[in-house]
Amino acid sequence: ARKIIIDTDPGIDDAMAILFAFHAQELEVLGLTTTYGNVSVEQSTINALALVELAGKTVPVAKGVAVPRVREPGEFPDFVHGKDGFGNIGWAAPVTQADPRDAAQFIIDQVRAHPGEVTLIALGPLGNLAAALERDPEIAHLVDEVILMGGTWKERGNVSPVAEANIINDPHAADMVFTAPWQVVMIGLDVTHQVLLQNSLLERVRNVNPKEGTFLYDIAQFYINFYSGIHDVEGCYFHDASCVAYALQPDIFGVARGAVRVATDGLAMGQTIICPEGKTSPLPGWDNVPMTDICMEVDSERLLQLFEETL
Ligand code: BDR
Ligand code: CA
Repeated sequence: ARKIIIDTDPGIDDAMAILFAFHAQELEVLGLTTTYGNVSVEQSTINALALVELAGKTVPVAKGVAVPRVREPGEFPDFVHGKDGFGNIGWAAPVTQADPRDAAQFIIDQVRAHPGEVTLIALGPLGNLAAALERDPEIAHLVDEVILMGGTWKERGNVSPVAEANIINDPHAADMVFTAPWQVVMIGLDVTHQVLLQNSLLERVRNVNPKEGTFLYDIAQFYINFYSGIHDVEGCYFHDASCVAYALQPDIFGVARGAVRVATDGLAMGQTIICPEGKTSPLPGWDNVPMTDICMEVDSERLLQLFEETL
């Protein structure tokens, strides 16, 4: 099975992604590492532990960074994921504890223990990956692949006109991740806004897998209300779980290649600026930036079917 670490800020769509990964036999989840983002890192760590317990797993959870590297912390989006990150449904607090290591150390230890084999699936702001790179830059050569949910190329942003939430939450960290010498796959709004998860699917999952299915259905209602309120849609976008689908079946996606830099301040803060493969920029800042695989097309039906069958 493919070894993965999920770096996450659960988060309603993070929860969908994590339970998806736990059920996928082709994946071996080495651990969850947590970050602030949808909620504080304290809350996201509690939420990650709760998901591990819900799934009956013994996967370690390592707590990560609490604030962005440079920019001032923003408000947590409790209108998107609820104050507790899980739609305020009132669920049981976990009884297990987090790993004694911090997220960056957990990532480094696992990557060093399995050189060339670990894929990092990043579903939140990228502070933990940046901290791991800073502490042990060599890991960039030892990671199999980084699959991240974040950014946007042709689609407009979801926080500012040009910026997606995970990237604007720590633009400096994101720029470090996109410019490090490892293979990055960017799954941004260009594709996640093409995948709409609807109640009918969640109802079917609840019928066959009542324990996790009921939890997912219940937390999803808050998220679906949010999305149907601001977009003209009936359902919610399937952001984070798309990364798990990519890890399982990358050919669900159509990919373009380009160098990615992140604007770190000003009007464009958090924008993923892309120089397509084969093009050059007369301005500095683009030398030796590795090529990222940027997902631009997705077979939405196949993706949702894979999620349903796996759950
Ligand atoms: C991203 O922001 C968060 O709200 C979601 O969990 C997802 O990771 C979408 O922009
Ligand atoms: Ca997330």
